Amino acid sequence: MPKVLKANAIHNIHSSYPIYIGVDALSCLPNLLAQINPSFILILADEKSIDYTLPVLKPHLSTKNPVNIHLYSIPSGEKHKTLDTCHKVWQYMIDNYVDRDALIINLGGGTISDIGGLVAGLYKRGILFLNIPTTLLAQVDASIGGKVGVNLHNGKNQIGLFNTPEAVIADLVFLKTLPIKAFKSGYAEILKHGLIADKEYWKECKSIKFNDLTTTLLTDIIYRSCEIKKSIVEEDAYEIDIRKWLNFGHTVGHALESVYTNTETPLTHGEAIAIGMLIEAKLSMAMRMLSRTEFEEIENTILDFGYITKILPVPKSEFIKYLYQDKKNQQHQLRLTLLQAIGKAKENVTVTQEQLLNACIPYLDIQE
Ligand SMILES: NC(=O)c1ccc[n+]([C@@H]2O[C@H](COP(=O)([O-])OP(=O)(O)OC[C@H]3O[C@@H](n4cnc5c(N)ncnc54)[C@H](O)[C@@H]3O)[C@@H](O)[C@H]2O)c1
Ligand SMILES: [Zn+2]
Repeated sequence: MPKVLKANAIHNIHSSYPIYIGVDALSCLPNLLAQINPSFILILADEKSIDYTLPVLKPHLSTKNPVNIHLYSIPSGEKHKTLDTCHKVWQYMIDNYVDRDALIINLGGGTISDIGGLVAGLYKRGILFLNIPTTLLAQVDASIGGKVGVNLHNGKNQIGLFNTPEAVIADLVFLKTLPIKAFKSGYAEILKHGLIADKEYWKECKSIKFNDLTTTLLTDIIYRSCEIKKSIVEEDAYEIDIRKWLNFGHTVGHALESVYTNTETPLTHGEAIAIGMLIEAKLSMAMRMLSRTEFEEIENTILDFGYITKILPVPKSEFIKYLYQDKKNQQHQLRLTLLQAIGKAKENVTVTQEQLLNACIPYLDIQE
């Protein structure tokens, strides 16, 4: 039996959506479809993973009333998380007379749930959507919390909405085909959840060897990460204060991800935020918020998991441009979420450009 968490909807605390987690979570889908009873189902998936994910989904797509089920596949990768992609999906929906009682199923990683949630939110002023996350990163983070959006000129998530799915189904079966690089990417968000909010969880997760992960342990980890994210989001849905904790590592991480998006060697989201967490932990120590011992524990963990394989070359002006595009900044000042201790973050810490760049020195080769 899958585990279930109930999370509050963003715009309406009186309504909630279920998050099904674990082995056979997909068995919940037929009932959900019967309740929603959509006029049309559009499955969004990415081209690279569709051959793995669609055959797994198909047997669970039975509906009481006959319904048109269409598939739309999106080119894989962060560089396609754009309004141009949304535009193509909307055009397809218009061409196929998709009406307001239709349902979008986002079958994929965080790029798909970010795009699909935005597409659903704006199509004819809003239609329903379900998330079926197929990467670890999407199962523990991207598919819940209600933030959806796309990049603009590589600037991360500059265009977006708050929009709540009808349900999230995180079935472990999808992780069987996930490449280790993508698994590691998701694990970075898990480590983040421990660092910002739960020291015990951090200790447990940092000691795990991926080969030792049983389905029970993995289910518990996904559940705990969703629980941490859910409780933070429920306290501060619109990111006035503590929701910013979830952004630890992301000011630097997003800037790195943006710099590398259109290169031959893009960084995964998790790789970028792992380096971001390391640099922002170093900055936390430099600001006398985090102890040296705890910083070293974080540094050793991120290096041991192999998130940094070489010192990354970064063009200074582009890197700085993206740092200043971060949504947490105010009045053109850099404002970050830093750590006070392992398990406790602090939002809205103003730092100078020089302080931030100094913290990057051991890990980035910032080029004039
Ligand atoms: N909205 C949020 O709250 C939130 C939170 C965190 C991250 N994000 C966003 O999520 C995105 C990253 O998500 P991601 O890491 O899932 O990336 P992704 O969606 O690009 O997927 C990563 C890769 O895994 C492949 N893949 C997916 N499922 C697979 C499977 N079951 N088997 C084999 N391959 C599979 C995909 O084809 C892709 O190549 C970023 O754009 C990030 O900004 C959003
Ligand atoms: Zn993230």
